[in-house]
Amino acid sequence: MLLCDAAHNKMHSDEEREAHVLVIGSGGAGVRAAIEASTYGETILVSKTLAGKGGCTTMAEGGYNAVLREQDSCDIHFEDTMNGGALLNDPALVRILVDEAPRRMEDLLRWGAVFDVTDCCEVAQRPFGGQRFARTCYAGDRTGHEMISTLIDRLHSTEVWVENEITIISLLKDGDRVNGAAGLDRQGNLRVILADSVVLATGGGTKIYDISTNSSSGTGDGYALGFRAGAELIDMEQIQFHPTGAVYPYDARGRLVTEAVRGEGGLLLNINHERFMDRYDPQRKELSTRDVVARAIATEIMEGRGTVNGGVYLDVTHLPRSQIETKLPIMLEQFLKFGVDIRDEPMEVAPTAHHIMGGLRITPQGETTVPGLFACGEVAGGVHGANRLGGNALADTQVFGRRAGDAAGRAPSLEKIADTMGIDAIQSRLRTFDQGDVQPSTVIRSLQVAMWEGAGIFRNAKDLEKTLGIIDHLSTLKMKAPARENLAGCCIAGNMLTTARLVVKGALLRKESRGAHVRRDISQAWDNRTSPYSHTYQSLEREGIEVRP
Ligand code: FUM
Repeated sequence: MLLCDAAHNKMHSDEEREAHVLVIGSGGAGVRAAIEASTYGETILVSKTLAGKGGCTTMAEGGYNAVLREQDSCDIHFEDTMNGGALLNDPALVRILVDEAPRRMEDLLRWGAVFDVTDCCEVAQRPFGGQRFARTCYAGDRTGHEMISTLIDRLHSTEVWVENEITIISLLKDGDRVNGAAGLDRQGNLRVILADSVVLATGGGTKIYDISTNSSSGTGDGYALGFRAGAELIDMEQIQFHPTGAVYPYDARGRLVTEAVRGEGGLLLNINHERFMDRYDPQRKELSTRDVVARAIATEIMEGRGTVNGGVYLDVTHLPRSQIETKLPIMLEQFLKFGVDIRDEPMEVAPTAHHIMGGLRITPQGETTVPGLFACGEVAGGVHGANRLGGNALADTQVFGRRAGDAAGRAPSLEKIADTMGIDAIQSRLRTFDQGDVQPSTVIRSLQVAMWEGAGIFRNAKDLEKTLGIIDHLSTLKMKAPARENLAGCCIAGNMLTTARLVVKGALLRKESRGAHVRRDISQAWDNRTSPYSHTYQSLEREGIEVRP
């Protein structure tokens, strides 16, 4: 199946390339990093899909948070983000996010992005949850799509070499330093790229859950790649369940119903047509933080006040039809396809796994704990703490994408020494898929169900241990690749298992409820301010939870 050097009975790669910077991932963070890195030297961007078509940025609907008005301030954005994140955020990273988000928005506008504007031709902003100012900039309800189209156009004006449809399956190292990556192309050929520095911008991984907003590429590859290369990850237990995902039809379960619906004035109602958020957060109601709203909806459903389809109502029928048509055109179109005209009848929604707040530990320059390896966007941890504010992720991609690309670009040029041991290990692993007997899709399906049941919105040690047991069992199964083309699928399923294990172990390490992580088996005498705990951490070397001095 693989290339074999008969004389030495050794496998080798089918193609090798070299660059100054290798960026893995083609969402908002990866493309922004590549644009920046390209000013320093040859840059290769590798996409698992087609650059700009896969990933989560293009699917992001609601908006981009930036302080643009005099009445608003970066200090308020900072406080909102810290409070929203249950004070688990790294304050230095948050400070950078809020201070630089406006400048990165200017970049996008300069490069041609078309955001909605006010009558005075200023970038329009709408309210999003947990924020004291309407600071979410938007392009209707297709903000991410507008951003990624702009970024891809900009990318094409640089010298960045784009490699599409390559699944990176391992990082390569020279000693302690990451110096490249190995991947599989669509035909299953092994491709090796050596570089002076590598930027991981692989996005999130909530496809490990049965119900998720993520596209099929949200498989957590970057967490697994980084972990196996020795990087430390923090707060992997912190999973954001977006309050409003589609409930039906079956195939559309979990699909994002943007927070912009609530930002535009949408109301959440239970089966009794009660505006139940009055009971959970009387001040902020539908625009409370996502962790609070998701728990409220889950509670309504669990306590029997949900709809027959297992959701709650999200109602915009009281809004002017023109507002729905102009501000929420994608929602209108999407629900019309589901047979619901949201101008006349309510949507039905329920929580859906959306975002991983944890990730690789980074410095403000996007350096991970492994030399040569940088991370930005969702795969990095620390910016969003225990609960991300809607609209902060798109800003994060631009702020930390630029920073990581810049820092990776500044890395010294080194002799590119091929990691022959690493490549041999990859080849041996790939050969095991010749002899396997289980389809990766079977493993993934079992994992998704186990994660939804045992590591969801409400958690306890017994269910988490059971889920860990299932992950361990699934990890022992021998996956099969009937043809070379299927090798990447086996590797991706392995990445999903690794990511899920990090999530569940993090959830066991954090013996408190904090933000999106709720342990129903633990009662605690502290709040976010007085919690004795900070980050959970996991690496090949160590795992635990930081205890505040
Ligand atoms: O609801 C949304 O439009 C999602 C936005 C986000 O996750 O930032």
